[in-house]
Amino acid sequence: MPSIDRRQFLQRSGAVLLPAIIPITAMAGQSAAAELPADEPPVSFFYDGADFNPAQYIDALQKLNAKEPIKRDFYGQGGAVAALEKKMAEITGKEKAIYMPTGTLANQLAIAELSGANTKVFVQDMSHVYRDEADAAQSVFGKRLMPLAMGQTYFTAVELKEAIEGLKSREVFASGIGAVSIENPVRRTDGRMVPIAEISKISAYCRANNIPLHLDGARIFMAAAWSGVSVKEYASYFDSVYISLYKYFGTAGGAVLCGNSSLIDKMPHLIKIHGGTVFGNWVNAAMALHRMDGFENRMKESIERANMIFEGLNKIPGLKITALDGGTNIYAFEISGSINAAALQQKLNKDFGIRIVPADKNGKSTLTVNETILYREPAYIIKAFESSVR
Ligand SMILES: Cc1ncc(COP(=O)(O)O)c(C=O)c1O
Repeated sequence: MPSIDRRQFLQRSGAVLLPAIIPITAMAGQSAAAELPADEPPVSFFYDGADFNPAQYIDALQKLNAKEPIKRDFYGQGGAVAALEKKMAEITGKEKAIYMPTGTLANQLAIAELSGANTKVFVQDMSHVYRDEADAAQSVFGKRLMPLAMGQTYFTAVELKEAIEGLKSREVFASGIGAVSIENPVRRTDGRMVPIAEISKISAYCRANNIPLHLDGARIFMAAAWSGVSVKEYASYFDSVYISLYKYFGTAGGAVLCGNSSLIDKMPHLIKIHGGTVFGNWVNAAMALHRMDGFENRMKESIERANMIFEGLNKIPGLKITALDGGTNIYAFEISGSINAAALQQKLNKDFGIRIVPADKNGKSTLTVNETILYREPAYIIKAFESSVR
């Protein structure tokens, strides 16, 4: 299945112009429901989480602050930032965590620091580090990214070993191996996961050979929800772990990097020299802390409801939803030629407050599950599709 290009999707759907998704949970007893404006929130079958527009963001922070005053940080020290770092260190089981302005900087600094003076860094061909970080590893950090698993979600431990050991015969001036980086789940392969058994083997190989291992875990909470493997277990196989704050925790940006004290303690200086030290970060940190609360349960509930909904939708003639092989929250969605796919998308949006990614000319699309699925009862969502295909 082709990967959904986010920019292309935004252009096709005109979603850049739409009001942002209103993040109210319709789950009975969920605290967020009482805290946010009660107009009809759309269910969005795209993105990994609820999205806040500025008014909702401010409203959520005001309510949080009224409950317990938000503590500010100064240049990332203290306050909500320190509380977030403590929580992330606990969740990942690492000694320390540090707030980072972006995931890109978290990945780059972790990889560069773990590699030391060694230049070769093995990555997935489809990874964000390889394809989407503007060649920062090469141009800023003096690293040579070595792509593996061309066009695939992951490389195996055997492939990594072959690539590393084969260097001796393929290159005359073999310089040292710096690090290995794994992205999981992989954005460019529609959120497919690296199997935990393979991660375990790769980690064992790296540890036996003193090769540091970094996890681009921007969406590791999604992998955990779908695989049942805890974030802590995933993290245990790696020397450093980056987690995004805005993909599904609703912040305006930010990231966290976790690892040993020896690595994390170097970060404040490195962030500063790369121009990433921001005076105040509490807006993102307070929101992340708030949205992390109960996240795991909301995802469990979201998966249960998605299964119910997709079972119902698969009974509608002309619609087919399939879980991706090794996938997480992105499902293949096929609309047969007998249905007007564009009309279906527009009707769902206009009449039922349900947003889907426009299908391509072959009727192929995806449905991404996130916690906005909780905003309506499964029966309502199934009925909405039934009415909209007519
Ligand atoms: C897998 C992955 N890693 C890293 C990043 C970078 O995050 P940021 O936008 O915070 O730099 C992203 C963002 O899209 C991502 O999807």
